[in-house]
Amino acid sequence: MDFRGKLILAPLAGVTDTTFRRLCRENGADIVVTEMVSAKGLLCDPDRSGAYLAYDEAERPVGAQLFGSDPGEIAGAASEVARRGFDFVDINMGCPVRKVTGGGSGSAILANPRLAGEIAREAVRAAGIPVTVKIRSGFGNGKETYLAVAEELFAAGAAAVTLHPRHRGQMFAGSADWTHIAALKRAFPGESIIGNGDIRQPGDAARMLAETGCDSVMIGRAAMGNPWIFAAMRHAPGAMAGAGAPRAGASFPGPEARRALIMRHGEEMFRRHGAHGIKEMRKHLAWYSRGVPGGAAFRAELPKVADPDSFRAVVGRFF
Ligand SMILES: Cc1cc2nc3c(=O)[nH]c(=O)nc-3n(C[C@H](O)[C@H](O)[C@H](O)COP(=O)(O)O)c2cc1C
Repeated sequence: MDFRGKLILAPLAGVTDTTFRRLCRENGADIVVTEMVSAKGLLCDPDRSGAYLAYDEAERPVGAQLFGSDPGEIAGAASEVARRGFDFVDINMGCPVRKVTGGGSGSAILANPRLAGEIAREAVRAAGIPVTVKIRSGFGNGKETYLAVAEELFAAGAAAVTLHPRHRGQMFAGSADWTHIAALKRAFPGESIIGNGDIRQPGDAARMLAETGCDSVMIGRAAMGNPWIFAAMRHAPGAMAGAGAPRAGASFPGPEARRALIMRHGEEMFRRHGAHGIKEMRKHLAWYSRGVPGGAAFRAELPKVADPDSFRAVVGRFF
């Protein structure tokens, strides 16, 4: 699998489920990945954790993201991910949330480059499909370990490394320091480096590629409520030279196409999740209404969206 010249949808817990990933693929994302799934959970309770690993053929290429700190567990889970037919496995070594780092997973691994390498090596050995790793710059201010970690990861056979250049303690504060992405690419010119962090506008993707020399870009928050952003990135000035031509129909939409996509999003969520789908769609509607005139008043009305009919009515009226 080639991880160069690609627009990639970031893993976003509670957002990038199979429905949303497919909408992003249809609208110009080249590669998508599931939200993070616990390796231990997948091995102990495959039905429950496996629910996060539902995907559709139309998503391909699609990866599954695992978190964990035990190389053996990650290997077992990576092999299960491969058995389920995913195109690649991504390992989360960036999550700063205490629930994850407390168990030694996510960004806690950045304190121990050797362990990072061991985890990746075991995953590569067991999976038989490409293994990628997503990291932050380090585990604290002045404790940037991404170069040492990446060295171990590539030596272990990682197919690509994604860098979100904030350290663990920053969570989402401050700004992503893209100079770290440039330094990573300089250190590993022959490897696939995916840049991530603070791509907000379509033109930002091309700017990150130009400023850092990274091979691909990954977009997270800017895709929430805006799956069309990938297509817009291809049309932006200085758009990705390496990326393929936009797929048919993948351009920034007018109101009708926008409304049609949001309706489809809702209908599929209701079909897949029943009543829980309504709750999920309220969240997506809040994002879809960002930047739309009257959005604040619309969001105040969202608690009233209680069933598929009221969903259809408010979407028809507002979008
Ligand atoms: C709501 C939310 C959920 C996230 N969930 C994950 C996750 O499951 N796995 C992961 O590696 N990163 C996760 N992230 C981090 C993003 O993938 C990404 O690295 C970060 O948001 C920076 O990129 P952006 O500026 O394009 O959003 C999450 C971020 C947000 C805001």
